[in-house]
Amino acid sequence: MKKAIYPGSFDPITNGHLDIIERSSKVFDEVIVGVLVNVDKKGLFTIDERVKMIESVVKPYKNVKVKSFDGLLIDLMKKEDAKVIIKGLRAVSDFEYEFQMALMNNKLDPDIETLFMMTNAKYSYLSSSAIKQVAKFGGCIKELVPDSIIPLVFEKLK
Ligand code: PNS
Repeated sequence: MKKAIYPGSFDPITNGHLDIIERSSKVFDEVIVGVLVNVDKKGLFTIDERVKMIESVVKPYKNVKVKSFDGLLIDLMKKEDAKVIIKGLRAVSDFEYEFQMALMNNKLDPDIETLFMMTNAKYSYLSSSAIKQVAKFGGCIKELVPDSIIPLVFEKLK
């Protein structure tokens, strides 16, 4: 079974993330969205809220599951018996950091491969931080995050 993990902070999930999830679900038998529990960084949403939000929007994709993890990504990979990490690439600026992480993960476990998927051009400028900034000052985030997530973002930022 071809199983992949799509890791990230997802604070909150964006339409760019969802696009990568949908496309990966067509390539792999199973995709696990791995939500990082980052003890050093307090996010807008709690990990449980992020997991629930993602679960609600990935319902149409029957082979997609959502799990939170702390520590190293490769430990989650081992636990789930997954060999492929999926990453979305938006711009050249993403490359350096992603290249470093891919090499580090491969060094930690040479059986692990990172697969990069180019973002859909219409979401290439999207990031969770940009969405939070726009929403914080009352800007429109329609079409940037799933519709069901919009009120949750505004509610949190109140
Ligand atoms: O959405 P993000 O914040 O860009 O995602 C970053 C993430 C979660 C993919 C990355 O921080 C990660 O994999 N963290 C787990 C720690 C780890 O395994 N580090 C080793 C690779 S450098």
